[in-house]
Amino acid sequence: MNLIPITMDGKRIEVPEGTSVMEAADLIGIDIPRLCHDPVLGSVGTCRLCVVEIDGMRNLRSSCNTKVTPEMVVHTGSQRVLESRRTMLELLLSDHPADCMTCEKMGDCKLAGYAYDYGVRKGAFAGAEHHYDLDDTNPFILRDPNKCILCGKCVRACQEITGKNVLGFAFKGFDTKATPWGDTTYDASECIFCGNCVAVCPTGALTEKAMQGQGRTWEVEKVRTTCSFCGVGCTVDLNVKDGKVVGVTSTDGTVNDLAMSVKGRFGWDYIYNERRLTKPLIKRDGRFEEASWDEALDLVASRLGDIRQRYGPGAFGALSSARTTNETNYLMQKFARGVMGTNSVDHCART
Ligand code: SF4
Ligand code: SF4
Ligand code: SF4
Ligand code: FES
Repeated sequence: MNLIPITMDGKRIEVPEGTSVMEAADLIGIDIPRLCHDPVLGSVGTCRLCVVEIDGMRNLRSSCNTKVTPEMVVHTGSQRVLESRRTMLELLLSDHPADCMTCEKMGDCKLAGYAYDYGVRKGAFAGAEHHYDLDDTNPFILRDPNKCILCGKCVRACQEITGKNVLGFAFKGFDTKATPWGDTTYDASECIFCGNCVAVCPTGALTEKAMQGQGRTWEVEKVRTTCSFCGVGCTVDLNVKDGKVVGVTSTDGTVNDLAMSVKGRFGWDYIYNERRLTKPLIKRDGRFEEASWDEALDLVASRLGDIRQRYGPGAFGALSSARTTNETNYLMQKFARGVMGTNSVDHCART
């Protein structure tokens, strides 16, 4: 690997060739603010919040899409840089509702976080403001275009992660809008409601509908687990408040990055479905009756033993599930071979 020597904020470092200035800063713990950049998406450099000063370059450069070059000298926190970032934030807030008090994103909002860090308030640039209708048309995603900062992450997530290309930019200038093509609603578009656009949105423009009013970010514990819907096994965060799941959000899982399916992200309410079985049932005289786990397992063991004794191991086959873990599937085939004496094992994910 070719290492490139650079100097950042007076510190001499070497980073692999092809590293961006932002990645180099991340490597040595310098925090550069970012609104449109996400490591799982392509870099477009639209928000201009990540600008840095580079010796020998007249203009400030966006660090997310500028690659390091040998002997580059970078200043990430100069007066010029800080002023530029403040101005960018002031411009963003100029057409943004002052709605943090009731906004679902509060506590997790990048825009509010940076405004606080840089001491920026609304009002520096007075002028026209948009008053768009909310898009409340679908069961899973609440879209508030008034809180959109046009970072384009949702557009890229839909293209690059989901491969659907449902979203784009409509209109021009002040009226530019990130929206489903034709400036229609989510439910009237080709959207499959995977919610990957919601996962990357840095503001309250896209939020999970079921989580509205369920608790502030700091009241919710994130419990990392594996989605149980299919064999991909995405890493997910259960959002738990007062011992109850109030939502599912994606996290930086190695299996799926931020991507999830509509089932994994929005189908979690089965947990509290009153028809869900929570105790074993045994059929007696044609009716299912609740039983203990010991009773149920004893019954299954004795019936399986009967089958093997009466008809031989060839009468038994094991069909396992993609929704269980590798370890469980391993145990199932072990049981079939070692206990029942048959190699008739199969799996629902095999086609
Ligand atoms: S999106 Fe962020 S800045 Fe805008 S109202 Fe919500 S919390 Fe406040
Ligand atoms: S909806 Fe969110 S992710 Fe999409 S452009 Fe607006 S702020 Fe960015
Ligand atoms: S929910 Fe999925 S398919 Fe629909 S716009 Fe967002 S990323 Fe695209
Ligand atoms: S994060 Fe670099 S331009 Fe937006």
